[in-house]
Amino acid sequence: MKNSPNNQITIDGPAASGKSSIAKRVAEEKNAYCINTGEMYRALTWATLKNNIDPKCDPAGVASLLGEFNLRIIANSQDITTTLLYNDNSIIPEDILSSHVTSQVSYVAIIPQVRDWMVNKQRETKELGLIVMEGRDIGTVVFPDANYKFFLTARPEERALRRLKQTGEHPTELKLATLVESIIKRDKIDSEREVGPLKPAVDAHIIDSTTLTICDVVNKIVSICK
Ligand code: DC
Repeated sequence: MKNSPNNQITIDGPAASGKSSIAKRVAEEKNAYCINTGEMYRALTWATLKNNIDPKCDPAGVASLLGEFNLRIIANSQDITTTLLYNDNSIIPEDILSSHVTSQVSYVAIIPQVRDWMVNKQRETKELGLIVMEGRDIGTVVFPDANYKFFLTARPEERALRRLKQTGEHPTELKLATLVESIIKRDKIDSEREVGPLKPAVDAHIIDSTTLTICDVVNKIVSICK
């Protein structure tokens, strides 16, 4: 597969469907670079909020940041299954995972100029060789000719439970219900946008992970990619 012109494995799916952990493990198995495109949208959202721009009310303001947003995806020589995001010379801060960024990122990701810009950046990673790229539109828009495409799904309740476990929070009924609501809201915005909506490519393998472990899903993907 290394010599194939289409050297990508794409993994798409909704929020908290396990894409990040699964993509990383698949990349380890395949000795490939792993690229998390959600982090790119989060990085721009972080910059947007830092510049006091409200992405929901001022999409043109967000688009105007792109000219000076020098986001670079750098291969991590210590661990090829992770790539590092740099804006100029500073690493994008961990804040990109904060709930404030999470609540605003869909409004940034809906802006057509932003999507064009991100898709071009993502395509540049072709030069790295074999990559596992995860996101929402990777199999449909970024790499429609990829060798192997996967689309992960899971019930919102299961996804909320996994997210709470990940953050170490006790899953009270109220927390779960709030999280399910925000996951469904984010899915709706992501699936209904006009450019690059969240949807499986027609030739994607669809895997419902509701009752599967991460290991089950990774094994399934790796066996298909052989
Ligand atoms: O995977 P994540 O939750 O970190 O993604 C953050 C947001 O970015 C999510 O609301 C959808 C958006 N996104 C997107 O629109 N397209 C991608 N390829 C990746 C993420």
